[in-house]
Amino acid sequence: MEIVKVKLKDRSYDICIGNKILKGIGQRLRSIGISPKTAVISNPTVYKLYGKTVLDSIRSSGFDVIPIIIPDGERYKDISTVEGIYGELLKHRLDRKSAIIALGGGVIGDITGFVASTYMRGISYIQVPTTLLAQVDSSVGGKTGVNHKLGKNMIGTFYQPKLVWIDIDTLNTLPKREFLSGLAEVIKYGVIKDKGLFGFLENNPEKIFSLNKNTLSYIIKRSCEIKAEVVSKDERESGLRAILNYGHTIGHAIETVTRYKRFLHGEAVAIGMYFEAKIAEMLNFFKKRNVLKIKALLDSYGLPSEMPSGINVNTLTTCMKLDKKAVAGELRFILPEKIGKVNIQKGIDIKIIREAFRIKD
Ligand SMILES: NC(=O)c1ccc[n+]([C@@H]2O[C@H](COP(=O)([O-])OP(=O)(O)OC[C@H]3O[C@@H](n4cnc5c(N)ncnc54)[C@H](O)[C@@H]3O)[C@@H](O)[C@H]2O)c1
Repeated sequence: MEIVKVKLKDRSYDICIGNKILKGIGQRLRSIGISPKTAVISNPTVYKLYGKTVLDSIRSSGFDVIPIIIPDGERYKDISTVEGIYGELLKHRLDRKSAIIALGGGVIGDITGFVASTYMRGISYIQVPTTLLAQVDSSVGGKTGVNHKLGKNMIGTFYQPKLVWIDIDTLNTLPKREFLSGLAEVIKYGVIKDKGLFGFLENNPEKIFSLNKNTLSYIIKRSCEIKAEVVSKDERESGLRAILNYGHTIGHAIETVTRYKRFLHGEAVAIGMYFEAKIAEMLNFFKKRNVLKIKALLDSYGLPSEMPSGINVNTLTTCMKLDKKAVAGELRFILPEKIGKVNIQKGIDIKIIREAFRIKD
């Protein structure tokens, strides 16, 4: 098993990565120091696949565990689902020493973290992420939250888990499109911080497509190491943490204007990464051959990079200004300087952004 440490003083925790380790979760819970009553929060899709293994493991380690199953889907990531979970926790008398366990993708992780941060003014939670996106991104770093009808992830907290438990084997059942969406975030880590990881992704598509265990372990571990390092230096995104948003300024705008229906998160980020690289090229920060390298890598994993048809550039730029990453309406972009290094750029002329969308290679 590989272990990556997230160093945040008294809120530090381990990210454990291994193959077929779900059955070991109960044993590990014993070292966390929680009361015997726990709850596993999941959805029907994931619970059917992995619920029994996780519950058996927790029970056999002496804990009393209740499953709380919420419907599958982003549209249930809202405050009414949170209220329902509070009700179950209260009904089953989970106390301030109890822990709750998120078993699922980013939706389950974000909701569970939010519930944990607010139930009885904060209880422990454990992330057991089962999508690649959740394993390399959302389960690490402590951003929790739910959507409001006026905006995605608008209600939330910063609240770190006590443990992240990643079983690579769960990726075997993940739909391919979801897997590739998570891979877009791995490509992002290569561009922002690790030329070696970028090169590895360029050279090993067969191993990645065939879900080779050592390969997956390597890319997940490297991604978690990079996220852990950034979060340890800037937990609340007052500066450096913004580099994790490479591809996201444009990506989020694309998700918003297509109403979260046409693209998965990673797919929209893939398009964003390509266009943000292009903007960097137009500003003479980034070489054209590197823009083409990013595009070729996205293409090789079947990820989109072209601006989707039917999207109005003006609507897209207006949307970017309204994003919560924009400060006082000023756009902030994370732009690459070379593969493995990015900078935070403010005050880019909107004309350059519009031009980037129009220019073809
Ligand atoms: N907190 C953060 O830092 C952060 C970062 C990025 C994204 N997010 C959030 O994450 C969410 C997206 O997460 P996601 O991409 O994991 O989507 P998701 O949680 O909706 O999961 C995608 C689908 O895969 C299914 N699934 C999960 N694991 C499976 C498995 N092993 N086998 C088969 N099916 C499985 C789920 O039931 C779901 O239908 C969004 O709400 C986004 O806002 C949060």
